[in-house]
Amino acid sequence: MNQMLKKAAECAETIKKYGEAVVVSHIDADGLTAAGIMCMALEREGIDYTTKFLKKLDATALNEIADIGRELVIFTDLGATMQEEIDALNLNVIISDHHQPVGATLEHHLNPHLFGINGTNELSGSGTTYLLAKELGPNIDLAGLAVVGAVGDMQDAKTGRLIGMNRHIMQDGVDAGIISVETDIRLFGRQTRPVYKLLEYCSDPYIPGVTANEAGCIEFLRELDIPLKDFGWRHWIHLDRDEKQRIVSKLMRLCMESGIQPYKVERIVGEVYTLQREQEGTELRDASEYSTLLNATARYGHADIGLNICLGGRENSYALARDLLLQHRRNLLDGLHFVKETGVTTMKHLQYFHAGDNIQDTIIGIVAGMSASIEGVNRRMPIIALADAEDGIKISARGTHDLIQLGLNLAVALRESAEQVGGTGGGHDIAAGATIPKGEEKRFLAILDTKIGMQLK
Ligand code: C5P
Ligand code: C5P
Ligand code: ZN
Repeated sequence: MNQMLKKAAECAETIKKYGEAVVVSHIDADGLTAAGIMCMALEREGIDYTTKFLKKLDATALNEIADIGRELVIFTDLGATMQEEIDALNLNVIISDHHQPVGATLEHHLNPHLFGINGTNELSGSGTTYLLAKELGPNIDLAGLAVVGAVGDMQDAKTGRLIGMNRHIMQDGVDAGIISVETDIRLFGRQTRPVYKLLEYCSDPYIPGVTANEAGCIEFLRELDIPLKDFGWRHWIHLDRDEKQRIVSKLMRLCMESGIQPYKVERIVGEVYTLQREQEGTELRDASEYSTLLNATARYGHADIGLNICLGGRENSYALARDLLLQHRRNLLDGLHFVKETGVTTMKHLQYFHAGDNIQDTIIGIVAGMSASIEGVNRRMPIIALADAEDGIKISARGTHDLIQLGLNLAVALRESAEQVGGTGGGHDIAAGATIPKGEEKRFLAILDTKIGMQLK
């Protein structure tokens, strides 16, 4: 970790030599918060900046970046898999990323993987960028954004809490009065959803009678004598301690009765992160809901709105983002519905579905992740989702922690398989993506199936 901070300090010194920069980042919550952190830090240093947000970093994007003609290019939450191509541009660059690096390490590349830190669950792209920002100036108040980014990348999913470097960053946020940490129910929508809706959308674990069962959830609360409404719909944050406790106990009992594995049941409760300076009852108050709000912007071509929110915009941008969020939720539900209806095809070592143009390429990864909780989807195999994209077929792959233990590395498997059919790919062991030429799906899947089989041996 000391070595990583040393590298961060070096990168910060380099940044300070320039008067202007372009910040290039990824269109998800982690990418937006990473860019937000970097832009704030640059602004405080008096360095001019522009931004560019990308679905992925490819040759076309790199040429466009070169054409912008800024003194310095700062890549956040991407760049690690494209070092060779970046180097060939002969630009002044900083890479602040947490994806598994490919190729020879560039001089100003800050990445947990290069320092023995796990970039899948110990440090996100926004966290990496926060470490850099902290070396640039007194930016500890930006720790809140780094927590939102880490939660957005599901880095707390395995243990129900942030671990490793993420935890140090979280502590910075607590010390700065930005973040508070509590043990609570880890269902999505504690700030903004009526309680029965919060229960209904519980997808991990899938609880029979509760998940996707509105009437069941209303009855669940009625049996516990918990009113659904007072002045309006009651949200989780409106319940008292005793009511919360009764709900959690009953949920756990139901899970046990339906034979759900104990470790999954335990995961219902864990750490939750509250942004102390945000208004109660808004998405921004909860790290998880905040990250979803951000995803609803940049993944639909509105990175400017998401970035504005990260930079403190609370009026126009927030209202626009909430509209986008409604549509985002509908899209995710439609996507899940599609998977339920069409089902998955099982190969030897993987299962897949091809969404064609039914699910947008920018959210296919989220749907792939969520589909693990659908009945009929096998938790003992990775899930591979395919969707049409402008430049070919977009692939999103998701595994489980158990499969990682057995040797699965989706970043490697996707990159190598994609390359064999003329595409590109990469990411993390548990979650990776690729783009391949249209028409190569069958061949790609066959290669991938074999590779995954070899990893799991
Ligand atoms: O590009 P980036 O690193 O930001 O994205 C990480 C991806 O990995 C996210 O889509 C996140 O949901 C996924 N992930 C996952 N399970 C985990 C950790 C991350 O699906 N345990
Ligand atoms: O797009 P998706 O959410 O499936 O991506 C999963 C992970 O793989 C993300 O961390 C993403 O940044 C990464 N990825 C990549 N190269 C690609 C596609 C995705 O590194 N070509
Ligand atoms: Zn990330």
